[in-house]
Amino acid sequence: MIGVDVAPEMIAICNQRSRPIEITLADFWATSLPFPRAHFGAVIALHGTLAHPPEDADASLKKLSEELARLLIPRGVILFEVPSPAFLDAIDRGPASLARSIGADRSVHEDEALEVAIEARAFSADRWITSFSRHFDVHAEPISNVEQLVVGVRME
Ligand SMILES: C[S@@+](CC[C@H](N)C(=O)[O-])C[C@H]1O[C@@H](n2cnc3c(N)ncnc32)[C@H](O)[C@@H]1O
Repeated sequence: MIGVDVAPEMIAICNQRSRPIEITLADFWATSLPFPRAHFGAVIALHGTLAHPPEDADASLKKLSEELARLLIPRGVILFEVPSPAFLDAIDRGPASLARSIGADRSVHEDEALEVAIEARAFSADRWITSFSRHFDVHAEPISNVEQLVVGVRME
């Protein structure tokens, strides 16, 4: 198993685990990942890790699809846990200090202590499917009222 993270601080925390794994420092939106073709049987991104794409989200998702198709063996699997659109309604019903929606598919969490604003996107199942369907047999299914699982198998 190999992890990827763009934040050295998060890699340092992960290295403190009782069972650390190898983690590569890389940005999966910005660059080609430093692994050879057909190197993995599965790529897993949980806990909304893919919910923060660059502003050109559609182009970024398609580029990621292409890169994951390069890295996976035929019939290799992608598995993403991402927020569903209903996530935006749920946060608007909760305390404003946590997060709020700022558009049709967008939320922001403003952290006053850290003085950062973190945007997240909550795309429809159709948008995920369209973005990955060139390389993957892909579908999306709800796993709670605020999250969905995007599952794909790399076409041969
Ligand atoms: C929600 S946490 C998930 C942590 C861990 N993988 C897990 O499943 O418990 C998201 C992680 O993705 C990393 N991350 C966010 N954007 C990234 C990017 N563009 N490239 C690589 N890592 C990224 C963050 O630094 C953070 O550690």
